[in-house]
Amino acid sequence: MQELIREYYELSDGTKVPKIGFGCFNPQNQDYVTILKTAIDAGYRYFDTASLYETERDLAKALKESGIDRKEVQIASKAWYDEMGYEETKTAFNRTLERLETDYLDFYLLHWPKASEDDPDWKEKDKSAWKALTELKKAGKIRHIGVCNFLPHHLENLAGTTDCQPEIDQLELHVGYSQELAREYCQKQNILVQAWGPLGRGRMNGDPVLNAMAAKYQKTFSQIAIRFLLQKGIMPIPKASTREHMLDNINVFDFELSREDMWMLSCMPQQTWQGEHPDFAVPKKASNPLQ
Ligand SMILES: NC(=O)c1ccc[n+]([C@@H]2O[C@H](COP(=O)([O-])OP(=O)(O)OC[C@H]3O[C@@H](n4cnc5c(N)ncnc54)[C@H](OP(=O)(O)O)[C@@H]3O)[C@@H](O)[C@H]2O)c1
Repeated sequence: MQELIREYYELSDGTKVPKIGFGCFNPQNQDYVTILKTAIDAGYRYFDTASLYETERDLAKALKESGIDRKEVQIASKAWYDEMGYEETKTAFNRTLERLETDYLDFYLLHWPKASEDDPDWKEKDKSAWKALTELKKAGKIRHIGVCNFLPHHLENLAGTTDCQPEIDQLELHVGYSQELAREYCQKQNILVQAWGPLGRGRMNGDPVLNAMAAKYQKTFSQIAIRFLLQKGIMPIPKASTREHMLDNINVFDFELSREDMWMLSCMPQQTWQGEHPDFAVPKKASNPLQ
């Protein structure tokens, strides 16, 4: 087994979260249980899944077959936008627990703030779902609650709905799409920012600036991209299918990008989002609650 990730972010209640998590989105139809067992063996201890990804059952199987103690891993899952609402979200949460074969989640997140670009009820649905999450947290079924793809105006809508504020906001965030405003807003409020698509979904491979920096630090482009996020206090959750990629993405604690290089990466031309955006390009795919 690889050495575990031994650097952590700390939440306000003192909970330690590994600085890098494993993204469990699996678009290809591979033997995903084996991939997940490889990730566990490679040293990952935080797993990010969702009802939408249809990988919750695989994660349960991989954890069981690897023999790892439930308490040694942190599991995050999410309610998709068609699972939003007070009753709907509680029901969705129970389905997720069943698929994950566990009786609690470490993190449960609202996956998307709106069901469509012009969803007229999103504010009310978000608030009702947030009440459900707060109650589940107080009942001890969820350790920490949070959101994904919530920009400041979505977060402000939740403010004051309950006495709990999101502890995590998972945003598309990577070199070339650094979401400075949302990041600063969250960090000022003590919300841990997670980066989805931290490698630009593979698109950064071949980028000349990242490649030049990789050569300078004797690292790979992905290690530069991940290190950039860590030095901004962000938690990346890269997806990887091979052991080589998995190890590459966590062997990033033995070097530091200089201030000048951080500035250079921060000032790279901002690309657009990956085809999905919380307000302007809401994903169309619906989850399958019956799975
Ligand atoms: N909340 C949301 O709305 C949302 C949306 C999207 C994703 N997510 C989460 O974020 C996670 C990660 O995002 P993502 O899957 O979109 O993209 P990503 O992690 O940025 O990129 C994954 C791609 O990078 C490749 N890769 C990984 N490590 C590499 C390395 N060391 N060298 C070269 N290539 C490497 C992977 O290839 P291989 O697979 O061949 O290794 C894959 O093609 C997801 O799995 C999911 O958990 C959340």
